[in-house]
Parts: sequence; structure tokens; C-alpha cells
Amino acid sequence: MSPPYGRAIFHRLNRAISDVQTIETSDALRAMIAAWRAAGEGIALVPTMGNLHAGHWELLKVARGLAKRVVVSIFVNPAQFGAGEDFAGYPRTPLEDAEGLRARGADVLFMPTAQVMYPAAVQSMSFVEVPGLSGELCGAFRPGHFRGVATIVCKLFNLVQPDVAVFGEKDYQQLIIIRRMVADLDFPIRIQGVPTVREADGLAMSSRNAYLEPAERARASQLYRSLREAESAIRQGDRNFRALERQFLQRLEERGFRPDYFSIRRSEDLEVAERDHKSVIILVAAWLGKARLIDNMKLELR
Ligand code: PAF
Repeated sequence: MSPPYGRAIFHRLNRAISDVQTIETSDALRAMIAAWRAAGEGIALVPTMGNLHAGHWELLKVARGLAKRVVVSIFVNPAQFGAGEDFAGYPRTPLEDAEGLRARGADVLFMPTAQVMYPAAVQSMSFVEVPGLSGELCGAFRPGHFRGVATIVCKLFNLVQPDVAVFGEKDYQQLIIIRRMVADLDFPIRIQGVPTVREADGLAMSSRNAYLEPAERARASQLYRSLREAESAIRQGDRNFRALERQFLQRLEERGFRPDYFSIRRSEDLEVAERDHKSVIILVAAWLGKARLIDNMKLELR
């Protein structure tokens, strides 16, 4: 079974990260977890698809504060990409990721191959489906995406058996779906959300920002600006959420985006927001060139 980035890269990885152990098989991972458990040590998991950036470093920092041991997983999960999506082109930077983890102090980098995670064809394996919400918002535009996410996260939970798992709030729908899965399937795991880390101009950090051409990058912060403008309208008392959604879809188009959705939902469960809801979240997904950007903003209302 060959490692995900080739044998040569794997050896270079282990040289690059003397104090972060890189593990590629589930047996080796389980042995490490068992040793930590025998020593009574708590475990945090930070699941990622690699190409680590400041947003991921924040997840790691939070994880470090929550448990003695931190496992960071890097796996570009084919099951959460649809046909024609960017699985093949998704940025893969294992050496830089490993170096960043070494500098910031993770205990284990779990970097399994597709064969380790999916020994049979993905379509013929068992899966986890969180009904309802998985078909809305991003799920409506990326059919099967959240099934792929729930399944891989479930597998990682079974392998690592963490006390806590840390996820970014930028992927807010993913966070809510994972919380639902954990509650529905009785995982004894705390799910910790971490606020979005932004570039100086407000653009949410994301590996997919690398797809933006310079002119698109200059324009991309208008997504955040649109969220701030909608936030301001709601704070000033506008509760006609459906009209706001229509207005901001149009504004995004005028600003050069191809929006998938602009939606105002109840924060706790992503039900469609009503005027008497006390905590709402504005969620947006929009294309700019080849990049599909997502972002959100939560508001507590009196
Ligand atoms: O958020 C991500 O990077 C991925 O969806 C996750 C949670 C690592 C599952 O592949």
C-alpha cells in the first residue's frame, strides 16, 4: 500500500518533522491512541484536507488548549467531491503542512491513503447520512457532499476516538451536521467550533482562495462586505429576511459573483430564520471565477 504522496515524499516528511509523528495506517494510529489512553491522556482531533493555513493553525491552537494530545488528520476525501468538482486539483502541500505542524506542535499527523480509508470502491462501502440539512444550502448545490463529509468524519472518530474534535465555523453547515451526527449516533465526543480567521480585507481564509486570479482576489472581500451590509440592515430592525436574501443575491451578482445562495437561518439548527428568532446566521456561497467561496456571519438579536 503506497503512502498518499509517494514513498519518497513520505520519507522526506518523517525527516522534516522529527517531533511530529506521521502515521499512515490505521493499525499504527490505534497503537498510538492506545498508548496515550493507557497513560490517561486526553485526545483532540483536528480533521483537515491539508494545505494548512492560518485558519487551521487556529484550530490547532484551540485543540492544544483542550487536550494533552493532538492528532491532525490530512486526507483529501474523494467521497465529498462531486463529479466535475476540484478533487484532482485540490491544493496538496504535505511538506509545508508537516513543517507548519512541527513548528506549532501537533503530536501526530495522520495522513492515510485512499486505500486505508476506502479499501473498497467508495460507492460500495457503508456511509453515514444526516438527513434533511444535508440536502439544503451547500448540500443542494453539491449533492452527496455532506454524506461524504459525515462518513469520513465518522471513520476518523472511530479510529482516533478523541475526547474533542475541532472544526472551523467557516464551514458552519458542516459543523451543525457533525453536531447532529454526534448526537444521533451517541459519539462521546465534544465538538468545538472555532471562529473564522480572515485576511486583512475580511476574506475568510480558505485553501480554495488559491484559485482566485489577482483581479478576482481584489474583488473577493466584497463577499464579506455583503455579509456586513446584511448584518447592519438586520441590526437596524429589518426582519424581512426573504426580501433581504433576494436583495443580496442581486447585489452579489452586481459585484461580479455567481451566487449559489444567500440565506438567513436560525443559528442553532439552520432552520429558515423567522422574525422572532434570537440568534440568526447569514450564510453565503458564491463563485468568483473558478473559486467557490463560502462565508457566514452570526448575529445575536434582542
Ligand atoms: O472541513 C474539511 O476540511 C473537511 O470537510 C473535513 C472535515 C476534514 C472532512 O474531510
